Amino acid sequence: MKIKDVEFVLSAASAKQFVRDGLPQVAFAGRSNVGKSSLLNRLLQRKKLARTSSKPGRTRMVNYFLVNKRFYFVDLPGYGYAKASKTDRQSWGVLIENYLRESAEDLRLVLLVDAKIEGSPLDGQAFEYFRSLGVAQLVVATKIDRLPRSKRSRSLKKIAERLDLEQVDDILPVSAETGEGIDKLWAELALG
Ligand code: GTP
Ligand code: MG
Repeated sequence: MKIKDVEFVLSAASAKQFVRDGLPQVAFAGRSNVGKSSLLNRLLQRKKLARTSSKPGRTRMVNYFLVNKRFYFVDLPGYGYAKASKTDRQSWGVLIENYLRESAEDLRLVLLVDAKIEGSPLDGQAFEYFRSLGVAQLVVATKIDRLPRSKRSRSLKKIAERLDLEQVDDILPVSAETGEGIDKLWAELALG
């Protein structure tokens, strides 16, 4: 994908602000700190477009980036942030649910799972929840550079078990650090 133009559009804190202009949206979901903002930056070849942080819980709103004036990338707040208050967790749930329920007609979700952590019960719950809402999901295993090649297939297998996926091949290993898997991810997204 040739990135000609990327524009930060807005951060939505509630459903009123969601963008519904008919353009396709690709949303990035996953645990806090899994590497959503980093992956988005890598895909868009911009270093600091979406703010990344070594501290979890950085992204708290639904952030829209318009790419080539043709589609949106949407950085969603992460789940499973251990230090989040109960109220924070509830508002996360409401925000994501509203976004998935009433956002774009053409919505694709990229679910990120940390390759090193091999997925958590929360990832399994998120996958199931998104599926119950009828959203198409593409699963990627992030930070694959942190695993030696000998440990990779085991990690992907574990993630597939977590999510109850039949095909390990359905999980795409990626690294925002080295760029591994990035071209494949663009191809899977099929944005033309
Ligand atoms: P929240 O916004 O808090 O939900 O986090 P996030 O999912 O957006 O994660 P973020 O992109 O901020 O990355 C979290 C940490 O993981 C940062 O320290 C990144 O540098 C690191 N990281 C992200 N992607 C990779 C990767 O592919 N490889 C390695 N080695 N580190 C990564
Ligand atoms: Mg983030």
